Amino acid sequence: GTIWLIVPAAGRGTRMGATQPKQYLPLAGRPVLAHTLERLCQAYPEACLCLCLDARDSWFDTAWVPYDDWRRVDGGDERSDSVMQALEAIADDADDDDLVIVHDAARPCVSHSDLLHLKTVLTQDPIGALLAAPVADTMKRADDHSRIRYTESRERLWHALTPQGFRYRLLYEALQYVLRSGVPITDEASAVEALGYSPQLVVGRRDNLKITHPDDLVMAELVLAAQAS
Ligand code: CTP
Ligand code: MG
Repeated sequence: GTIWLIVPAAGRGTRMGATQPKQYLPLAGRPVLAHTLERLCQAYPEACLCLCLDARDSWFDTAWVPYDDWRRVDGGDERSDSVMQALEAIADDADDDDLVIVHDAARPCVSHSDLLHLKTVLTQDPIGALLAAPVADTMKRADDHSRIRYTESRERLWHALTPQGFRYRLLYEALQYVLRSGVPITDEASAVEALGYSPQLVVGRRDNLKITHPDDLVMAELVLAAQAS
């Protein structure tokens, strides 16, 4: 079947606080989104790309897209809305058991070997899988005043990263279910979990950081430099 690659890039980057959305900020001389798309294309050259962009986006340049076969979709209010827009856009062409791989535009440091490893797992897993990293720090649950209520055991606690991949029909139904229920979610796995399934966590590199705050750009430059050496 076809492999669909959805890249949500329609966010505003509120926490970054820059004048441009963070996916367009320069990282090692090129926009973040250009790095992300290049890495995805190196590992998944056969995929059909669906890029979610804000309808009023004025920064995007098609020259950054290394795919021949790709389409642009208008993003929605939340990340999950943007991904759903993409699923709707490919509905006529996607088969129920086609693989859909979703990767944040804001994760330009994802490694080639992690992308390949995830794809291998996905082709064999009936439910779906995501890159993830075991939590290293001690985790505290706080009250509204930043006072510790208790310590969460970090045993079996993971950071959910992207890509995350699922079969088309399962992901569509899961997202539709959570969007209708109104429960906010920040990744695809949460939606699939809400239907009662348990996606597979695939150990990925911890340097697959999501550019969120200004200092993440500094760290991402270091990661790219270290990976290149
Ligand atoms: N995203 C999207 N559509 C939205 C919101 C987010 O496509 N309505 C994308 C972002 O562009 C990003 C990814 O989803 O690549 C992860 O979201 P996040 O890190 O939250 O990015 P932003 O929403 O842009 O940042 P912030 O939450 O700080 O505003
Ligand atoms: Mg956001």
